[in-house]
Amino acid sequence: MTSVDPAIIKLIKKKFETKHQFIPGKTTIKLIEPAFGPDEIIESLDSLLTTNVTMGSKVKKFEGLFSRYLKSGFASMVNSGSSANLIALSSLTNPWFSQRIKKNTEVITPAVTWATTVYPINNLNLKPKFVDINLENFCMKTDDLDKAVSSNTSLLLPVHLLGNVCDMSVVKEVATKKDLLIMEDCCEAHGAEFKGKKVGTIGDIGTFSFFLSHHITTIEGGMIVTNNESLHELSKALRAFGWIRDLKLRSKFIKKHQEIDPRYMFVNTGYNLRPTEIQGAFGIHQIKKLENFIKIRKENTRFWTKRFSQYKDYFILTKEDPRTRSVDFCYPLTIRKESPFTRKSLLSYLQKKKIQTRPIMSGNFIEQPTIEFIPHLKYGKLENSKLAMRNSFFFGNHHAIGKQEKEYIVDAIAQFIERKLWKSQK
Ligand SMILES: Cc1ncc(COP(=O)(O)O)c(C=O)c1O
Repeated sequence: MTSVDPAIIKLIKKKFETKHQFIPGKTTIKLIEPAFGPDEIIESLDSLLTTNVTMGSKVKKFEGLFSRYLKSGFASMVNSGSSANLIALSSLTNPWFSQRIKKNTEVITPAVTWATTVYPINNLNLKPKFVDINLENFCMKTDDLDKAVSSNTSLLLPVHLLGNVCDMSVVKEVATKKDLLIMEDCCEAHGAEFKGKKVGTIGDIGTFSFFLSHHITTIEGGMIVTNNESLHELSKALRAFGWIRDLKLRSKFIKKHQEIDPRYMFVNTGYNLRPTEIQGAFGIHQIKKLENFIKIRKENTRFWTKRFSQYKDYFILTKEDPRTRSVDFCYPLTIRKESPFTRKSLLSYLQKKKIQTRPIMSGNFIEQPTIEFIPHLKYGKLENSKLAMRNSFFFGNHHAIGKQEKEYIVDAIAQFIERKLWKSQK
């Protein structure tokens, strides 16, 4: 039952009735197209009208739906994917966690990732050790992962970048052999699988982002998932001031500290990274749409891969590992070193054609100016990461990209290549 007036519901639904029309050369093909509609808005309005606006029953419901979808034991929502990474790492380092990782130890993570995969490592006095990526899936290279591990390594932090899936067989094998924990950054990989298991549930703890451009959105938002109850209790405590509300351990503390008002009893350290009910309201409806969004993204990818395969001399295309289900966050292309054109010239051509593009996340993170503030290590020469930084890019691959848009993108790239080749032959 919603508290929103039926007349308002009707108006909101009407607003979304107009179908978006694609006019070649005039309509911009965007990187991001928010995937919400009347359901999410009406559910959010209900929160506003009932004045139940901060973390409450809608967030709880979304957590339940999300953990059921992933088949993970537990899920706790926070206000962003970056917060999810901070909470997950803070939980792994917390004294409440019996296998906690120690200060100043090394965390192995790919050099191509997002900035807030790296920052929490540094914030928690751990040291990132960057390893190279594969250009076929932009995930951590695992061929010699065991060699990257030192006696001071505590954690493997694979990132399932661009909706692709890291080789979790190797990650698990190395973690078992060297007694390491695994945290999966799945912020771009909702619903992706390795050998039939959803990413985020393969390691010890996993994180997701629901930012506007992701497979499903709560505008801003994130989730921490785990099968470990102790890590889940920690996630709940740390996201909300380290107080005891919500905790299973609550009664133990209440009994021990009877003089303290249990509503304001603080038992651990923490932050305030709680989500709002508006974010929960979005999540409840978005999760039902996730499989359909993935289906559209995968169909788009199949189309582009088929059409771009004739340009394999110029581009490195992504290749899906048959043991995985990737969920195609975007469509990435890497211009081969030998190609007769540069990324700059191609992207400026696509910009004129109104096709938005961007580099791969934060590129080779080691080349970002911020690295000066982050004590770090690296394993190997990071050749692929360097190439991705210079020659890779992606365009959008979301529910709003239909047949016409797909053809238009292929035609634009084909025209660009033909012109280049024609010029170079003259
Ligand atoms: C791999 C990865 N990790 C973490 C994040 C952080 O998520 P958020 O933007 O929700 O803070 C992102 C964001 O896109 C990401 O792509």
